[in-house]
Amino acid sequence: TKKVTVRTLLNMKKSGDHIAMMTAYDFPTAKLLSDAGLHVLLIGDSLGMVVQGHETTIPVTVDHMIYHTSMVSRGADGPLIVTDLPFMSYHASPEVALHNAGRILQEGGAHAVKLEGGREMAPTVARLVEAGVPVMAHIGLTPQSVHALGGFALQGKTLASAKRILDDARALEAAGAFAVVLEAVPAQLAALVTQRLRIPTIGIGAGPDCDGQVLVFHDFIGYTSGYIPKHNKRFADVANTISEAARAYVDEVGGGSFPGEAQTVRLSDEAWETILA
Ligand code: KIV
Ligand code: NA
Repeated sequence: TKKVTVRTLLNMKKSGDHIAMMTAYDFPTAKLLSDAGLHVLLIGDSLGMVVQGHETTIPVTVDHMIYHTSMVSRGADGPLIVTDLPFMSYHASPEVALHNAGRILQEGGAHAVKLEGGREMAPTVARLVEAGVPVMAHIGLTPQSVHALGGFALQGKTLASAKRILDDARALEAAGAFAVVLEAVPAQLAALVTQRLRIPTIGIGAGPDCDGQVLVFHDFIGYTSGYIPKHNKRFADVANTISEAARAYVDEVGGGSFPGEAQTVRLSDEAWETILA
C-alpha cells in the first residue's frame, strides 16, 4: 500500500484533494479503516470518553496512548498514524513533551503526535519538530481544557476570539506543525484559517471548507448511546446491530436453539462407543 506521509498531506492541500482522517483505537478497526483508504488514523485521547467511559479526556495517560497506538500500528498499512499527547504530558516543558512524544513513536509506533493549544505551544512544537517528531496542532475547542473553557462549546464566536484562533494557527505553522485540527469553530473562521495557511487544516465541527475532516470512530459508526454532537453524521448504526444481536443471543441460549447442529462437533455413535469401551 502507498504510504501517506506528512509530505503527502501538504501535496494534497496544494492539489485540492481532501484529507480523510478518523480516530482508531485498536487493531481490527485500524485494519478496516486502512483498507478503506483513510489517509490519517488518529489515536485520539477521545478514547478516554468513548472507550474507557470517562466524562472527559483528562484521565488518559501516556501509557494508555502507547497501548492503543501499538494495536493500531499493527493493523494499519498506509495511513499516517498520529497519536494525541494526553493531558499534562507536554505542558511542564518542551523537554518533557519530547520525552513523551519519543515514547509514543518508539514504543507505540506512531509517525507523529498531536497536541492541543495555540501560540503558547509554539516552542514545544519547534522542539519536537527539530528532534524529528512531526506535530499536528489542535486549536478551537481543546477538550483537555474543558474545565478552563467551562464546557465543550463552540469557539471563535467573537472578533477577539476568532482573531486569536487565526493568529494561533499562524504561530503553530511558523513553529513547524505539519497540519492543524480546527475543532468546533464557525465555518467561516475555518475557511479563513484554511485559506491563510500553507499547512492543511483538518476540521471537526468546523464546516466544509477545511482541507480535511476528522470524526471520532464511535460517533461515526453510531457505537455510542446518548449525546450526539451536532457536527457528527452517523454513517452506520452499530449500537442497534449489537443490541439486536445480544438480545437474540440471550433468547437463543435461553430457548436452547444455540448452539444448533451447525455449530456442534459430534462424533459418530461408533467412534464414541470406541472411546467408552
Ligand atoms: O481525541 C480526538 O479524537 C481528537 C479529534 C476529535 C480531533 O482529538
Ligand atoms: Na484529542
